[in-house]
Amino acid sequence: MDQVIIFDTTLRDGEQSPGCSMNVREKIEVARCLEKMKVDVMEAGFAISSPADFESVRAISQAVKECTVASLARANTRDIDAAWEAVRVAADPRIHLFIATSPLHMEAKLKMTPEEVLAAARDMTAYAKKYCSNIEFSAEDATRSDWDFLVRVVDAAIRAGATTVNIPDTVGYTTPAEMQKLIEYLRANVPDSDKAVFSVHCHNDLGLATANSLAGVMGGARQIECTVNGLGERAGNTALEEVVMAMRTRPAIYPYSTRIDSTQISPASRMVYSIIGQRAPLNKAIVGRNAFAHEAGIHQHGVLANKQTYEILTPESLGIVTDNIVLGKHSGKHALDQRLRDLGFTLSKEELQQCFEAFKVLCDRKKNITDDDLAALASQHTAGQDTRDDGGYQLDWFAVYTSNFTTATCTVSLIRDGVKYEEVCRGDGPIDAAFKAIDKIVKPVEHSFDIYDIHSVSEGKDTLGAVTLRLTSGGKNYNGKGLSTDVMEASIVAYIRAMNKLCAATRKGESAS
Ligand code: KIV
Ligand code: ZN
Repeated sequence: MDQVIIFDTTLRDGEQSPGCSMNVREKIEVARCLEKMKVDVMEAGFAISSPADFESVRAISQAVKECTVASLARANTRDIDAAWEAVRVAADPRIHLFIATSPLHMEAKLKMTPEEVLAAARDMTAYAKKYCSNIEFSAEDATRSDWDFLVRVVDAAIRAGATTVNIPDTVGYTTPAEMQKLIEYLRANVPDSDKAVFSVHCHNDLGLATANSLAGVMGGARQIECTVNGLGERAGNTALEEVVMAMRTRPAIYPYSTRIDSTQISPASRMVYSIIGQRAPLNKAIVGRNAFAHEAGIHQHGVLANKQTYEILTPESLGIVTDNIVLGKHSGKHALDQRLRDLGFTLSKEELQQCFEAFKVLCDRKKNITDDDLAALASQHTAGQDTRDDGGYQLDWFAVYTSNFTTATCTVSLIRDGVKYEEVCRGDGPIDAAFKAIDKIVKPVEHSFDIYDIHSVSEGKDTLGAVTLRLTSGGKNYNGKGLSTDVMEASIVAYIRAMNKLCAATRKGESAS
């Protein structure tokens, strides 16, 4: 069977979407998980975009050994220099450069003529090739570009040394039939088309990303760019788990193979959701909680008689383990460590100790500790959230008084550098009162409060509540996450963490996210 290269861009295009940012430590955890899942290429970031991005591309390039590591770059020398500097330490580095080719992007965004874009594509590919043999060239907004112009640009990139040419559907505009024809057209009309691998990169604005990617493969593409859980700008990118499992489930229709170890799909999905502080939509294809749930009596009857009546995939093939030994009050650190490793987390000694302490506290509050609980705990600790609060405020205690007939009041005590700060505020509900009290202590610069998301990590009344929130100031985002069986506490901790980042950036006169 023809092999399709799986190019994962969770750490670049996925992370770029609002509310999905990760710190370096979190990105390394995800990178290890992707490596274990056997992706062929991982795009570690956009090195020039910020010092933190540069640092994470470099750290991932050092940590990952079993797959190609790519950094994105615009078609200019500064971007390409930074990309190379960040990935050069990788076992198999790739520079991925791009320039837009649609009339709209060339005129409105780049303010370049088509001939200038063509020259930049050619010259910058040749420039990148001096550093690295493995070069990917992308024609941004390809699906809204003139096909014959695209032929010229792709031809120029291949002649200049591109080994992969990517045809992105940047705004999720194309359809399966059109994508297949476009790839066929390019392969038929670009003179040296057999000298490069054709790739597709689809966004999901019309909900067609998976179908368009598979159609691109039918047209001759042999690389799919995708993200875990379909994370990405706006409606997201092609979901890795969907294209891989479609090819695996329907080999007669899609006679292509991938190297992906599908039993790592569920652990990777869980890890990514827990790190970004989100929960899989219940009906998300392949990894949603309801993917194997059968509510209707007629379906339950069928599944009991023979699973295949209503199930086309097995939970085992995705690494969903249902007969796990229950961890609880009496479990030791070793058992916790092993389970976290099975879930894809590698904790340092210190992080494991912190996680173990949090686990014991949780055991006192909650009867059944699920894998989702453990992943949520681990993502808090691998993220170094607790230790990174150094120099910032920490929660000492809080007390809240609320009812449905009085104004809520909250007293908050925070500690910073050994000094205690206490404030009390009234508010429109207990959370508002708590946040106002924290504001009174911290006195942050002007900011907006953009996202406040609270969800239960698992089932049951005693579930952990995970809070993710985002503050914005000067165009930069400051995220905070909190986790507790008490949603007030989770909210307060998340708010303090975001505030600490905002204050640290204000002190340094720079940004953080
Ligand atoms: O969507 C897009 O066009 C991209 C390119 C930079 C590959 O992400
Ligand atoms: Zn994209």
